[in-house]
Amino acid sequence: MVFKDNFLWGASTSANQIEGAFLDDGKGLSTADVLTQGSKNKERKITMELNPKYIYPNHKGIDFYHHYREDIRMFAEMGLKSYRMSIAWSRIFPNGDDEMPNKKGLDFYHKIFDELHKYNIEPIVTLSHYEMPLKLIKKYGSWRNRKLITFFVRFASVVFREYKNDVRYWLTFNEINAITNNSWNAGGLIIDENENKEKVINQSLHYQLVASAKAVIEAHKINKDNKIGNMILFPIIYPKTCDPKDVLAASNFQNEVLEAGDVQVFGKYPQKVSERNKQLDINITDDDMDILSRGTVDFVSISYYSSLVAESSEKKSKRTLGNVIFGISNPYLVTTKWGWQIDPIGLRLSLRFLYSRYKKPLLIVENGLGTEDKIENGKINDDYRIDYLQRHIKEISKAINDDGIDVFGYQVWSAIDLVSAGTGEMRKRYGLIYVNSNDSGKGDLTRIPKKSFYWYKKVISTKGKSLGNDING
Ligand code: BG6
Repeated sequence: MVFKDNFLWGASTSANQIEGAFLDDGKGLSTADVLTQGSKNKERKITMELNPKYIYPNHKGIDFYHHYREDIRMFAEMGLKSYRMSIAWSRIFPNGDDEMPNKKGLDFYHKIFDELHKYNIEPIVTLSHYEMPLKLIKKYGSWRNRKLITFFVRFASVVFREYKNDVRYWLTFNEINAITNNSWNAGGLIIDENENKEKVINQSLHYQLVASAKAVIEAHKINKDNKIGNMILFPIIYPKTCDPKDVLAASNFQNEVLEAGDVQVFGKYPQKVSERNKQLDINITDDDMDILSRGTVDFVSISYYSSLVAESSEKKSKRTLGNVIFGISNPYLVTTKWGWQIDPIGLRLSLRFLYSRYKKPLLIVENGLGTEDKIENGKINDDYRIDYLQRHIKEISKAINDDGIDVFGYQVWSAIDLVSAGTGEMRKRYGLIYVNSNDSGKGDLTRIPKKSFYWYKKVISTKGKSLGNDING
């Protein structure tokens, strides 16, 4: 295994899943704050007004807001070279349309960056990770409205300026292509039955793409050393059989997954998407097209949890569970307890696919295993997580060394246990650090390094040479 000295070994979180302190220091309510507790089989509910009969797990998160010093000290002890995080938009602009930012919100992230720099940990910052000010939904209808571009770019420019000396790596929207299936988290959208769903989604996505491109342009203007990437939820898609109809279905599906990514990298819509947008009468101006062409990203980042399988629409196999975008079951793969198919080779294939399409440096900003952990004698022996991560890292190494792909970093999802975005559960744990809190938000929030924490520490300190599970955590 050979990884370059400057490879960005790291781990990832998002503000809304960890911070808690949902109304502290002037923060406004966000889209994540009105999501109720869900479960494996029960979707999270959105209640536009808070209702005391429900549990809202993000209100407390893991209280990173008050534990950040201790947590970042542990990240440093693990040897993280980088830490991917997000800034809560609703902490900086509580209503979204405020003229001036909330100073206390800005101060909080100064403290975070100071703490990270103290340990030489490179921050990788997502601007919008499944969180936005709720007022923007109530007052403007969210990304349906062109005005959102102005509000987002104001937020982006403020943080680019404020943290000019602290942050080099930025991402615009987390999993921008998730808006179709995860419209609330990715776009703050509740789509009425009387609306044309396809039109609402593609109009909103267009405004997000323009906002993303404008943010790229601003980031470069404010600091020429800024590197700014997009973030795509990426599964490689296999055809179910070699029936050309299945192969075509897989290829079409793959293109769909990359519609937004194509715009962010190439600066224009693929022809087929342009035609569809015309048919849907999507509001796109010449100015927008000019911005898209100038605001192309410096690198491509992805979340990778699974591959998918597709078949021709005439066939009707059962769909599997998974992360936001769904395919049919792959008999060659095992699944997690939450039904997500595990496919490390799929990660290597994903990197190959993306590199040959985009020829841009790639950064993996999410990859990890969500499952239950047990504490035994004060320890968490999460060999299953080590096995998952180890197998994925091996494939990344092959992609770099055998396939010649420029992958410049890897971020485990997640640095520490956090509230699941899909279900709101705590029991679906991803962290390298355990947090004592349950699905009802009960627990003293004690942090305990898992066995995977010590294992990852060794991986990083040996630059990926030691991937073996011979650690006594
Ligand atoms: C990604 C999101 O889709 O997957 C994260 O960017 C999320 O925010 C992660 O937590 C895992 O999904 P889940 O639903 O298990 O939390």
